[in-house]
Amino acid sequence: MKVTVTGGTGTLGHASARMLLKTGHQVRVFVRSPDKFAQLCKDDRVEVVQVDLLDRSALAVLLEDTDAVIHCANFPPHRFNLSFDAARYLLEGLAPGAQLIYPTNVWAYGPPQDDRVGPDHPKASPARIGGLRGDLEKAILAHGGIVIHLPAAYGPRVTGGWVGAAFEGAFAGRKIRQPGSLDRRLELIYIEDAARALIAPLGRLTMRGREYTAPGYSPISLRELAFLIESATGQSVQLRSRAIGAWRARALLSTKRRLIRDLAYLFECSTLLDGALIRKELGWSPEIDYEEGVRRTVDWLGDRGRESV
Ligand SMILES: NC(=O)c1ccc[n+]([C@@H]2O[C@H](COP(=O)([O-])OP(=O)(O)OC[C@H]3O[C@@H](n4cnc5c(N)ncnc54)[C@H](OP(=O)(O)O)[C@@H]3O)[C@@H](O)[C@H]2O)c1
Repeated sequence: MKVTVTGGTGTLGHASARMLLKTGHQVRVFVRSPDKFAQLCKDDRVEVVQVDLLDRSALAVLLEDTDAVIHCANFPPHRFNLSFDAARYLLEGLAPGAQLIYPTNVWAYGPPQDDRVGPDHPKASPARIGGLRGDLEKAILAHGGIVIHLPAAYGPRVTGGWVGAAFEGAFAGRKIRQPGSLDRRLELIYIEDAARALIAPLGRLTMRGREYTAPGYSPISLRELAFLIESATGQSVQLRSRAIGAWRARALLSTKRRLIRDLAYLFECSTLLDGALIRKELGWSPEIDYEEGVRRTVDWLGDRGRESV
């Protein structure tokens, strides 16, 4: 299929492009900076198109021959409103029958009401940004898009977000501080598992307006994760708990992060996703366990300077 990936320079965009190549698709990425993409991927089978997703007329032309879009572009919390425009321009630019797949997080759900959060869990986020996410997901679903909720991703080339920073910090021997209990159960998804989940709906044209939750391999605590990193690097990880109130106060003081302060509940409870529906309908389940995933991540961190792909 001819698949366009938005946000090609981002964590999931870049990983999706690689997975699409691996599985024999024709890949086009939409990026704002082709130079940035070239630093991440030098594979000349990828067609790199420089475009801003807020450029409605350019998108209408560029999407004419696309069979599917994996929409991995993301706007920061203080500019999240722009996500609605970008999604609308993509949906209206797609040819009838073309697919749009949207990866999202768990913010729309709010504190979990069950042991496992499945796609039909109520969307009751106490945070405004969680409500906005939920509204965007609803709009995409109403237009036949496919929404896939994922936990935070980790793995080679994942340098953004708290997970990327934590791995890089641990590898460099810096102190890692995370809000809340270090023994809280959480989930991370290995980056290639996440990319496989995003391409799993491709070509299943009857699956329109479907929503899925794609879990990590299993629940794990930060303390257990630190232990795996220690085993893989042979050096100790300095992991410390930070008060959730302090995290909230820091978010409140930042114009860019203020909107996420009401997501502090995420550090007090365990949001574990239910993979039953995505396994049943799309045949997807996570494959890489934490021991293997951490080993690959640490290997990549060690080799990073020498990588030329
Ligand atoms: N990463 C995760 O662990 C994770 C986990 C669960 C769900 N998700 C969801 O997956 C989606 C993608 O997340 P991500 O972490 O991969 O994002 P990311 O790494 O922050 O990347 C965001 C991408 O969006 C691009 N972008 C921003 N504004 C744009 C614009 N106006 N026009 C064109 N491109 C624009 C950025 O381009 P520049 O490089 O030019 O800034 C970048 O490529 C989000 O909805 C996120 O919530 C991510």
